[in-house]
Amino acid sequence: MGLPESSVGAESLDMDRIPRHVGCVMDGNGRWAEQRGMARTEGHAQGEHALLDVIQGALEIGIEWLSVYAFSTENWNRPEDEVRFLMNFNRTILRRRCEQLNELGVRIRFVGRRDWRVPTGVMKEMDEAIELTRKNKRLSLVVAFNYGGRAEIVDAVRKIAARRIPARRITERTIASYLYDQEMPEPDLIIRTSGEYRISNFLLWEMAYSELVFTDVLWPDFDRSHLFAAIAEYQHRHRRFGQVQ
Ligand code: IPE
Ligand code: IPE
Ligand code: MG
Repeated sequence: MGLPESSVGAESLDMDRIPRHVGCVMDGNGRWAEQRGMARTEGHAQGEHALLDVIQGALEIGIEWLSVYAFSTENWNRPEDEVRFLMNFNRTILRRRCEQLNELGVRIRFVGRRDWRVPTGVMKEMDEAIELTRKNKRLSLVVAFNYGGRAEIVDAVRKIAARRIPARRITERTIASYLYDQEMPEPDLIIRTSGEYRISNFLLWEMAYSELVFTDVLWPDFDRSHLFAAIAEYQHRHRRFGQVQ
């Protein structure tokens, strides 16, 4: 069921049918490191190169929105050392890569809860990245950080309740209008690496009609050729949205 691990060049894609929004569940960093006798954190560090290459691939073929799952609301349950590493790592990545992403025309955004568990240093770096890149137009990069699909829906419901919107007036559109990122279109394609066939609480509401592609490649080994292979697979799919066509 997994995607073949073959490499695919951008030239084999149908440029008229590039998905507007691609989401990535970047999984398998720990296993990548363990296979090499390294600490799990080495796998996260290596994942940075995969992410940069995927961003460059997205720019190359004109994807408008790329969302990446960086830290879930459930990932707080990992060992304290790993959580601390991931917080620190995300802060330094932002600091290190922000300028480069800005020069590439990437607009950085975040979805997730800004609760007391997120260190203030990370939030500061997030705000600076948003501010520096806010006018960029080539690619919107949405980082899901301290993100959970259920938490996002809970947060939307809380805001609706706080506004005392009458029950009879609440529609799907109402709920959608209280999700974290009002500009982000629903993902056309979601890719999950590392051979796991699950969603793990990523963009639950938004992915109602997303195409799903799973690959055995571990995230640190993933690059733009795997992204293009996933898009080639997407271009063979027939999206029906519940209709008969
Ligand atoms: C994904 O890699 C990165 C995060 C969840 C932060 P994992 O750390 O889940 O790697 P595996 O799944 O244990 O191999
Ligand atoms: C999903 O991966 C979360 C991120 C990629 C940030 P996990 O490794 O946390 O998911 P499970 O535990 O395998 O479902
Ligand atoms: Mg994992």
